[in-house]
Amino acid sequence: MQKINRTVIVNALKSAEIGREINIKGWVRTHRGNKNVHFIALNDGSTIHNMQVVVDMGKFTEEQLKLITTGACLNVNGILTQSVGQGQSVELAATAIEIYGVADPTQYPLQKKGHTLEYLREIAHLRPRTNTFGAIFRLRHNMAMAIHTFFHERGFFYFHTPVITGSDCEGAGQMFQVTTLNLYDIKKTPQGAIDYSNDFFGRPTSLTVSGQLEGELAALALGAIYTFGPTFRAENSNTPRHLAEFWMIEPEVAFFEIADNMQLAQEFIQYCVRWALERCTDDIEFLAKMYDNALIDRLRFVTENDFQRLTYTEGVIILKDVVAKGRKFEFPVDWGIDLQSEHERYLVEEHFKRPVILTDYPKEIKSFYMKQNDDGKTVRAMDVLFPKIGEIIGGSQREEDYEKLKRRAEEMHIPDKDIWWYLDTRRFGTAPHSGFGLGFERLMLFVTGMQNIRDVIPFPRTTHNADF
Ligand code: 4AD
Ligand code: MG
Repeated sequence: MQKINRTVIVNALKSAEIGREINIKGWVRTHRGNKNVHFIALNDGSTIHNMQVVVDMGKFTEEQLKLITTGACLNVNGILTQSVGQGQSVELAATAIEIYGVADPTQYPLQKKGHTLEYLREIAHLRPRTNTFGAIFRLRHNMAMAIHTFFHERGFFYFHTPVITGSDCEGAGQMFQVTTLNLYDIKKTPQGAIDYSNDFFGRPTSLTVSGQLEGELAALALGAIYTFGPTFRAENSNTPRHLAEFWMIEPEVAFFEIADNMQLAQEFIQYCVRWALERCTDDIEFLAKMYDNALIDRLRFVTENDFQRLTYTEGVIILKDVVAKGRKFEFPVDWGIDLQSEHERYLVEEHFKRPVILTDYPKEIKSFYMKQNDDGKTVRAMDVLFPKIGEIIGGSQREEDYEKLKRRAEEMHIPDKDIWWYLDTRRFGTAPHSGFGLGFERLMLFVTGMQNIRDVIPFPRTTHNADF
């Protein structure tokens, strides 16, 4: 077979060089034909669209073509021709075909018929080869690029915070422990505690639940930073919105107050969604057609409209009001509760019909580091709530006052030995500052219109599931 430099299919489909012989490589999506001509739909992952390879049976034998089944990998030379069929503008008239790898149809788990998303989760090692997951993972890459570009253009520095940590930022006790101790032979101190002196770090350590505390140190030196890394939470919540391993983006900005923080959050999400609409049109159109007709309208709406801003207290009044009018929720509403997803979605989808930013939550349900309001009851928290998702961003203005922060940490039983370095920033050159965390997979749920967070990360980790 003549060696020709490969053209990726996304470029070949756009090419105007009709009549030229090119080479493509990819995986067979479908193969059909009769005794005169065969059609092979080939996909190489560069686009949702396939190249149609037309095989003139005068040049190839039945024997050769028998092995070309769904999933097989091919190396194809052919003449780029104007397509007469519907649905594509160019196709490839094959001149030579080499089979790199067959995929025995009696064993290959992906057949051309549609599979359920649940089934595809069981074969997560192969699901990137489907149209749906090709589209999702191209979008995921694009959202990562959008995020880095957004912050880079605004002068934020990408700051790397540790994955292994000794502090529990959110104080929720949902950390995965990291240890090299032999679990079969745990040594105890005379007091009965575990002796960590022989552990790798000589102390208890865990996987991080957030890079925020270290991010704040950086913001109070570099001015504006963001983190973007894996985050781990041993939450035993089996919901379509929680993962044990997810990715979080955490900007942190010196001299930002809560209003600046809200504006940044809005512009940030709008930028990413606009990026998706402008640069991932084919993939979004495919997902809209397959799963969610309203997807594109929903994405446009978010880019064009301000998010509604109101306080937690105002939100609770609205919710209590509608409960009084007979609206049923699974969980009761009262000032002081942590709002459930059903409450958040009511405010967003039914009451305001737009994204909502709730601020000034009761201090009891928020983390120790949030700036305390003068009312003594609330903190300057902000949650961004989205249609179909609920909470997509959590953040706050930070408590910059050393005494207040130290007192709150003590009240919440956070040991000084774990956070003395964090408190130091308030002793030396403290400043007002704010930040937030965006759950990357929650953003992915929004831009893809998928319903389950397990379908927007390549290899989901949830309770009792860490395959692949
Ligand atoms: O609201 P959270 O817990 O906030 C923080 O961790 C802060 N330290 C952020 C900051 O201010 N720098 O988490 C932030 C976001 C949530 O809004 C949600 O989108 C996502 O992270 N998130 C999860 N995503 C998937 N699975 C989980 N288990 C998640 N927990 C939080
Ligand atoms: Mg939160």
